[in-house]
Amino acid sequence: MAIERTFSIIKPDAVANNVIGGVTAKLEAAGLRVLASKMVRLTETQAKAFYAVHKERPFYGDLVKFMTEGPVVVQVLEGEGAVAKNRQVMGATNPEKADAGTIRKEFATNIERNAVHGSDAPETAKEEIAFFFSTAELASLARS
Ligand code: CMP
Repeated sequence: MAIERTFSIIKPDAVANNVIGGVTAKLEAAGLRVLASKMVRLTETQAKAFYAVHKERPFYGDLVKFMTEGPVVVQVLEGEGAVAKNRQVMGATNPEKADAGTIRKEFATNIERNAVHGSDAPETAKEEIAFFFSTAELASLARS
């Protein structure tokens, strides 16, 4: 499988619950490498734009409110089949349905306050990475 990149958000609930390290440890243990990482506080405008695909959904307003309630950690992850691998380690959107050992099973509260976001496809990953990281910023973090 090809080396690819994906995008991850450690959401406000997980940051508030002091599990940035716990979440990242699971990603790293699965073979994903953190290429870029920063803590940011989303504005309402940013959260609305990032989740625009869900704007007709009944939970959109609450989702925007949740995602702006505190800082998040945005990360670029790299590895073999990174998009699928990240989603596997995250577990199902609803933690009640997530497999044992997944991030959401261990750290999420409910379907909305679900600890992490991960891109659903390589194309989405590209867009989501570009939403938070400039090409120059990523280039400056390249490893030798
Ligand atoms: P995420 O993977 O970031 O993608 C969209 C987010 O919307 C999702 O995680 C949840 O936080 C939230 N979400 C998805 N479905 C629901 C739902 N049925 N009710 C409330 N929030 C939801």
